[in-house]
Amino acid sequence: MRSRRWLTWILLGFCVCGLAIGAEAALGHDSPSGAGSFEPTTTQADAFDWQLPSWVPRPVVPADNPMTAAKVELGRHLFYEPRLSVTGDFSCATCHLQHLAFADGKTLPAGATGEVHPRNSMSLTNVGYNSVQTWANPLMQHLEQQLLVPLFGEEPVELGMAGRENELLQTLQTDSDYQQRFQTAFDDVNPVTVRNISLAIAAFERTLNSFNSPYDRYRYGGEATAISDSAKRGEVLFNSERLECFHCHSGLNFSDSARHERSGFIEIAFHNTGLYNLDGNGAYPPDNIGVKEITHEAADMGKFRAPTLRNIEVTAPYMHDGSVATLEEAIAHYAAGGRTIETGPDAGVGSQNPLKSHFIQGFTLTDAEKQDLLAFLRSLTDETFLTNPQLSSPFE
Ligand code: HEC
Ligand code: HEC
Repeated sequence: MRSRRWLTWILLGFCVCGLAIGAEAALGHDSPSGAGSFEPTTTQADAFDWQLPSWVPRPVVPADNPMTAAKVELGRHLFYEPRLSVTGDFSCATCHLQHLAFADGKTLPAGATGEVHPRNSMSLTNVGYNSVQTWANPLMQHLEQQLLVPLFGEEPVELGMAGRENELLQTLQTDSDYQQRFQTAFDDVNPVTVRNISLAIAAFERTLNSFNSPYDRYRYGGEATAISDSAKRGEVLFNSERLECFHCHSGLNFSDSARHERSGFIEIAFHNTGLYNLDGNGAYPPDNIGVKEITHEAADMGKFRAPTLRNIEVTAPYMHDGSVATLEEAIAHYAAGGRTIETGPDAGVGSQNPLKSHFIQGFTLTDAEKQDLLAFLRSLTDETFLTNPQLSSPFE
């Protein structure tokens, strides 16, 4: 429960208004859910160079954390900084590796002290476009608030800095390079603060943008041959009423929980895809019950956010608990209308999960169609994102 106290602190610290929390905590249904009021934001018609293709709308930026090159660069240093961990050898980048689209390739990650996290490390592809962060927390709507969880959370320990805030600030204050970077990024008398650490890392995260896959060049860049004919057929399948993928993995970021400067309304949605059905009533394993952990609503059992499918080829293993090893396996899960686990503590017939989304009905694909769908998913890999030196460690 200690992590809960942190969560409360985090939410209060960032003034997420009580009204908005109440409204969104009650969400978690399949249908698109418009979230009413959000904090004032700017759309940054200013000087920051987003380096986005012209067709891409910019992410929404909180009014109290405008983008600047100096802040982003400081945030990049902090993201890769091992002194942000209790052991001195762990950083955000330990679980979020650039060449894996900022996922880590593990089923479940361990934190600095060896404690295993119950959930799979997420790709940070286009996190600035998420309307809600992490797998299943409707309250986690701001990057500035999310990063405090790995930094200071105790359940599980990730970077393990709870109770070490002063030590951390002193380390950064007495490092002349950081001193200067904080001074340049923030016009404060005493700029080395936890708040400014969070503002800087969040600003860096808003530059983790990936819109240069072969699919983008084909679909938006006018390059008719940027993807194969097989991938083009796969796109049609993905967007078909037979497969239904596009209902949840929709829009710019292949996720229905997305927002950007031109979003008319902001959707926050969670879905049960029938991965588990432990008791015939839809139960998921007790350490990963989805949105229900936050809302305590029975209907929210097993509901998770649809993650982006951009760079999906490099972010295996898949799903909130890393329990799906390959894209072939992911497709088989959907084709069956939910996964069946034959034996063991997680045994159950997911396709009969009474809480699963009505979009998960199952379908039959020929081998050729399966290859087409895979080719489409693989056309979403953006090599420039995976290798962009501006997003890589400044210490190497
Ligand atoms: C021990 C491994 C680990 C470390 C260290 C770590 N993360 Fe994560 N990250 C995760 C896991 C696991 C999740 C999913 C959490 C959940 O759903 O509860 C996640 C989720 C996220 C998300 C949400 C992405 C999305 O699409 O919703 C962001 C953003 C993020 N991490 C940023 C960071 C930052 C910034 C740091 C450093 C301050 C950091 N992480 C450190 C493992 C880690
Ligand atoms: C009802 C909404 C919905 C539909 C329809 C849907 N998905 Fe998903 N998808 C999700 C959710 C939610 C998750 C995460 C589930 C979890 O972790 O329990 C997910 C996860 C995935 C993942 C793993 C992502 C990762 O980063 O781990 C892949 C791959 C995927 N979906 C592909 C597809 C394909 C292909 C289709 C169509 C055949 C499809 N999805 C249809 C909601 C949906």
